[in-house]
Amino acid sequence: MLTTLIYRSHISDDVPVKILPDMVSRASKLNETQDVTGILLFNGTHFFQILEGPDEGVQYVYQRICSDVRHHNIVELMQDHAPYRRFGNAGMELFDLREHDKDSVLQAVLDKGTSLYQLTYDDRALQFLRTFVEAREKENYFEVPPIEQWDFIVDEFEEYTPVNRLTKTSEHGISFHPILDPFARKVTSIQAIINTASVEDIALDPIEHHRLDLALAIKAIRIAGNTLPEDMMLYVNIMPMTLVEIPDAVEQIVAGIADAELVTAQISLAVSEMALISRPDAFVMAVTKLKAAGVSLAIDHFGAGTAGLSLLTRIQPDKIRIDASITRNVHNSGPKQAVVQAILRCCSALEIWVIATGIERAEEWMWLEAAGIINFQGPLFTCDLTHNVAWPELKFTA
Ligand SMILES: Cc1cc2nc3c(=O)[nH]c(=O)nc-3n(C[C@H](O)[C@H](O)[C@H](O)COP(=O)(O)O)c2cc1C
Repeated sequence: MLTTLIYRSHISDDVPVKILPDMVSRASKLNETQDVTGILLFNGTHFFQILEGPDEGVQYVYQRICSDVRHHNIVELMQDHAPYRRFGNAGMELFDLREHDKDSVLQAVLDKGTSLYQLTYDDRALQFLRTFVEAREKENYFEVPPIEQWDFIVDEFEEYTPVNRLTKTSEHGISFHPILDPFARKVTSIQAIINTASVEDIALDPIEHHRLDLALAIKAIRIAGNTLPEDMMLYVNIMPMTLVEIPDAVEQIVAGIADAELVTAQISLAVSEMALISRPDAFVMAVTKLKAAGVSLAIDHFGAGTAGLSLLTRIQPDKIRIDASITRNVHNSGPKQAVVQAILRCCSALEIWVIATGIERAEEWMWLEAAGIINFQGPLFTCDLTHNVAWPELKFTA
């Protein structure tokens, strides 16, 4: 099977352009041994490469390319299969866009094509190539600075802040996790995670299951009530069907909030996009009651379920929490970047607040921050040993 892989990257600062022809002739030889062909475009700052060949060969070459320090911010734009090679000349060819005038450069690149058919058909690979040559989409190239510039520092004085006290609490399988705005150095809210495994292990009839789910959500609110600062929100996960199957679930939650001496505006119920909503009309009615009581709604694991953006045409939550499956390695995945940008555009039009969850790597956080996300959650911001919040800090460079 013929695989096509396309990526773009940024030349590293200390790499003189004059080394490129030599690098390319060596790379070309290696590509030949793998039966990989393609084209490498360079515009003075960015590379764009199409690799074509047997899947194993393309992956082997791409692995080497990814670990090459002569470029960074490598974003994989496309991986697909095709019946024929677009650029089938042996090895690999470098094409410097700067050596051609603007009006004829695209044609000059296409002239390098070796496909039986003209390279002007409606083909995704060629549309990517054209977008790069015409320098469109450049506003979406977020250059993530090297992670070595950042330290993640735990502020010793914050050891006993209410937030850090909460994040060390774990009771009845309920734990608390900070959501933060790293640049403002502010914890903006807390999420109570209820370990549903303990709930699911118990063989209960469905109604008992929902009763237990509701009881744990109220328990989480009560535990947080002792500590949660007045200006901070608490997200509490609940199964969507709990709000439907327990007729007075909303009333019980509101009463639980009052007992915890919190106000309803501090609580956001987070329902998972993945949980099946089998009675959407009844769910919408429960949400109406929640909102009337002042409790807001968040959609959790957004993007991991099947509903996706179409969910937002039926229910507009106050917040969405983008799932870790989308944020993981977003900095080097073109498809993930496109999905995040679509979510952000949509949420901005609907005035829905977005939280990026599951952040493990500094590059993920930096890319998402550049895309416009302010609130983050994930192990990157929590010290493994102490569970205290760890803040990103620029390293001092002499
Ligand atoms: C923008 C760019 C494109 C590259 N393209 C290829 C390529 O198509 N094939 C290849 O073998 N090496 C390519 N390389 C070089 C590899 O990263 C690597 O240096 C080369 O495979 C030799 O591997 P080695 O240094 O481990 O011997 C490229 C490097 C850069 C910076």
